[in-house]
Amino acid sequence: MRTPLTGPVPAAGLREWQRPLREQFPIVTGHPGLAYLDSAATAQKPKAVLDAVQAYLTGCNANAGRGTYTWANRTTALIEEARERVKAFLGDPAPGRSTVWFTSGTTEGLRTVARDWLVRELSDGDEIAVPFADHEANHLPWLEARDLLAERGVRITVHPVPYQQDSHDYDLEALAALAASAGERLRFVAVTHVHHVYGADMNVHRVREAVGPDVPICLDAAQSVGHLPVDLGALDVDFAVFSGHKAMALPGTGVVWARGLRGGPFRPGGWQGTPNTAGIVSLRAALDWLDAAGTARIEEWTVGLGVRLTDGLSRLDAYEVLGCGLSLTADSTVQRRQGLVTFRHRAIGANDLGFILASHGLLVRADGLCQARAGESDASVRVSLHVHNTPEEIDRLLGVLSDLADDRPGVGRR
Ligand SMILES: Cc1ncc(COP(=O)(O)O)c(C=O)c1O
Repeated sequence: MRTPLTGPVPAAGLREWQRPLREQFPIVTGHPGLAYLDSAATAQKPKAVLDAVQAYLTGCNANAGRGTYTWANRTTALIEEARERVKAFLGDPAPGRSTVWFTSGTTEGLRTVARDWLVRELSDGDEIAVPFADHEANHLPWLEARDLLAERGVRITVHPVPYQQDSHDYDLEALAALAASAGERLRFVAVTHVHHVYGADMNVHRVREAVGPDVPICLDAAQSVGHLPVDLGALDVDFAVFSGHKAMALPGTGVVWARGLRGGPFRPGGWQGTPNTAGIVSLRAALDWLDAAGTARIEEWTVGLGVRLTDGLSRLDAYEVLGCGLSLTADSTVQRRQGLVTFRHRAIGANDLGFILASHGLLVRADGLCQARAGESDASVRVSLHVHNTPEEIDRLLGVLSDLADDRPGVGRR
């Protein structure tokens, strides 16, 4: 398990190492009037990543596995090296047996697991459990798999992964009861590492214990890879899927890691065209950069900024923070919030709020956050933080939010 964070991080204390890292983001330093607060949608790219792409495209750009000349061989080698880099970054517990498959992002990755693995694995009467209050990319593919199987006369049951009533955590006791009653018919469980609306760390290290040693678990790691240390050995999952572009690689990059232990082998099928070579090169550079920067430090920094924001919001009556019961500790019975905060103004719609914030140079995600608990995410604004963000940016945001709190009759500062 990861080291517990002890409480609100004195953000000023971490400036010394953070400033040089911030300076490595050309888009950030090139736009001093703007604060990018939407890293959960896609992350900005450090110079090292842009340089690696430039070096590849000007040095040896070619197609992979299809040439006899140096550039083609080098491209093929770069892709294989990137696979190994992904494994090392994730603490692969099965390096000789596992597979890394490149995709365009988490959505395509989860769909690939659904279509090319799950559909082959399941038989009539089998059961699976999927998290309906998580991102739709982590439930629609499993429903699609169910429908594909039904067309072939194979009927499976899809259970919702249970959530606790008053927190955003999974209800692991209820999940264990579901696993016990389904027995060998439970053939697959999908979970999410960090929730994209609540910022909640979903305590997935406890899911294996709940479902037992034999059930394959698929992890949506879209909001964790690049933001905190991800150790697949400790999590004991069978698939881990993430978006490279959310981990500082180029758009159009993503990964499926498959352990290859439980169930049949993961062999994505169909004809494969040219891979996203520049994207894969960028992913490798991004993982190098993240390792050098230190994902534990990044986590500590962004959690600290998130606390600064939630503290400020808690003093403004006009705002409601979604998932406000989340804590900062890594105690396995308490849920921790990562550096991602979603809130709404009690009187101003999310789109309007998003436009107003953008007019102040504060770039946030507004409205329609691809599913959470029914209706919750629809009218909200999400602030998601990364290592280049600063306490001053949070204070600027709070200043504008505070002015807007005074703006409406009946709402104001506490
Ligand atoms: C938890 C989670 N899963 C899946 C996705 C889908 O990622 P992508 O759009 O890169 O496919 C997202 C994107 O925001 C996400 O936050």
